[in-house]
Amino acid sequence: MRNLAAGNWKMNGVSTDLAQLRALVEAHPAPNCDILLCPPATLIARMADLAAGSALMLGGQDCHKDETGAHTGDISAQMLKDAGASHVIVGHSERRADHGESDAIVLAKAQAALSAGLVAIVCVGETEAQRDAGRTLDVIGAQLAGSLPAQLDCAPSDLVIAYEPVWAIGTGRTPTIDEVGAVHAFMRAKLLDRFGEPAQEMRLLYGGSVKPSNAAEIFAAPEVNGALVGGASLKADDFGPIVAALGRA
Ligand code: PGA
Repeated sequence: MRNLAAGNWKMNGVSTDLAQLRALVEAHPAPNCDILLCPPATLIARMADLAAGSALMLGGQDCHKDETGAHTGDISAQMLKDAGASHVIVGHSERRADHGESDAIVLAKAQAALSAGLVAIVCVGETEAQRDAGRTLDVIGAQLAGSLPAQLDCAPSDLVIAYEPVWAIGTGRTPTIDEVGAVHAFMRAKLLDRFGEPAQEMRLLYGGSVKPSNAAEIFAAPEVNGALVGGASLKADDFGPIVAALGRA
């Protein structure tokens, strides 16, 4: 299984930032890992044109559970695919917090993504209070139970899980390698329980303050098959070394 370096631009990026994509593609013509950028939806189609013929893939940051309809401001999985996306992030903690997205909503979005032929990147992660209370694995277990389909009706590679401790996102703080490894091993065991042996082929990403300086160390943790990178994915000079580290891991 190849590692996946996924960049989440969040609400950042206008046309002048397309230069970052060009730089990334030029610096990594034949990467040893898969590379995905999830820019704001406004940039997906233009990035898809620029990335054509390269190894770089594009994704959305969210999708609606419905294909079409009266949902002002929302974007469906079909629309993302039509714009050139192959992946979509669902259940990011910022959406769970800012938009009140429950596990049930995240599940519906993941199913919509898979039905549209997109790879769904389902995010889970505990808050600082939950970690301090010793509830990390309970929280992750419940989020996995509620946010994932009951059966794996897709290729195992079409469902990706991103473990992103809420307290590590954008803070510069990261869990220890042992802490990352413990959560990832727990997630793999839960997925094997639920989906059987194919779950061995599902990628588990770590996200939260991944930087060029800590990437190699984090990627050495067991059961880490890639990263979901926020701030450090905005500049090719930062994301490039992370891509390189994942290619070596
Ligand atoms: P960060 O964000 O890398 O800026 O901490 C990660 C994420 O939220 O996906």
